[in-house]
Amino acid sequence: MKPVKIGVMGLGTVGAGTLDVLQNNRIEICRRAGREIQVIQASARDIKKPRSCDLSGIQLTTDPFDIVRNPDIDVVVELIGGESPACDLVLQAIEHGKHVVTANKALIAKHGNQIFAAAQDKKVVVAFEAAVAGGIPIIKALREGLTANHIEWLAGIINGTGNFILTEMRDKNRSFEEVLKEAQALGYAEADPTFDIEGIDAAHKLTILTSIAFGIPLQFDKVYTEGITHITLEDVAYAEQLGYRIKHIGFARKRSDGIEMRVHPTLIPEKRLIANVDGVMNAVLVKGDAVGPTLYYGPGAGAGPTASSVVADLVDVVRTLTTDPENRVPHLAFQPDALSDHPVLPIEACQTAYYLRIPVQDEAGVIASISRILAEQKINIESILQKEPEPGSNQVDVILLTQPVTEKQLLHALAQIGSLPQLAGDIIRIRLEGMNA
Ligand code: HSE
Repeated sequence: MKPVKIGVMGLGTVGAGTLDVLQNNRIEICRRAGREIQVIQASARDIKKPRSCDLSGIQLTTDPFDIVRNPDIDVVVELIGGESPACDLVLQAIEHGKHVVTANKALIAKHGNQIFAAAQDKKVVVAFEAAVAGGIPIIKALREGLTANHIEWLAGIINGTGNFILTEMRDKNRSFEEVLKEAQALGYAEADPTFDIEGIDAAHKLTILTSIAFGIPLQFDKVYTEGITHITLEDVAYAEQLGYRIKHIGFARKRSDGIEMRVHPTLIPEKRLIANVDGVMNAVLVKGDAVGPTLYYGPGAGAGPTASSVVADLVDVVRTLTTDPENRVPHLAFQPDALSDHPVLPIEACQTAYYLRIPVQDEAGVIASISRILAEQKINIESILQKEPEPGSNQVDVILLTQPVTEKQLLHALAQIGSLPQLAGDIIRIRLEGMNA
């Protein structure tokens, strides 16, 4: 069979990594795909820049639109990132009847509904395995491997930078700012690192996972997103004393009245496997009704891991070239006309347990007052911890773990605790998920 002709847009870390994998594993990939995959054109902002990958035989251009219009190209690989011009490039490629492989999570999370509708219309495939959790084949697993299941919930450590920061804080007692600088120097962080530490990158990825898990349209604007910038070494240490680790988690759960979709720091029991996913590694825990809990672990970023997913998508696309477009795996796992309008719940309706750190004056009756307020809101205390005050200080931290409550209930209680005369500082609250399977 004739080789399949590819155009690669973007020759950064992932673009160069993709060319390396295609070249280094050429024979193995061809044996699997049944055809040669040949990169004939690539675009980069600076085509003269020296690169480690072999560019021989590849026509270079500074204009990625040359690639989407090139009549010889069958599949375009979008590795530029960001929303613009990536969205226009992908839509134009589809318009020209080309299949698309992309690693772009923001693009899929925010424009995926439009892109998939256009692809459906033109009978082309848009593949995006590399957009979530780098080298972990989580899209494939959710969309195909778990297709027999009702997915009940999923929880993911889906931002390597955030996980690296929290791990270093816990293991080495290093400050947030210091570790963030190192993550940037090591190249883990997004171009704008606020995307990592404020949870936006994780929210992009969670949007995609949630749609595929529950068969709803992509709804990035409905993800509750909270970052990790307020996590202190004190809370990391208190969590550890209580038998928990703090992780930045993307969490989605289907309830009869709607879907919870939230990204926030989370206490997880340290005995759970996912609580032990450290450094830049990613993991996604998926609970299906038939299979039970399944855990997917691996590198969430970097040239080799991301290229591994990009090339897997390329092989999938090549295999589908000869299949009936009506019988391909649907982009969002469910047939487009079978997506549901099950609503995404507002954060006030979400239900979770909490870790509370309440700084108070060390006076008789303070804990009784806090307990009374929680009891009035029907919030059950799971455990409580209070240390002796530091010498010379009259202030102590009261640490409470609650049983699951709605955000609304908790906010009522916190407003009342906030007006206690003995309160000596801001109340810290961090959500807690038992991840019981
Ligand atoms: N900045 C991302 C991370 C890169 O740290 O996980 C991979 O999406």
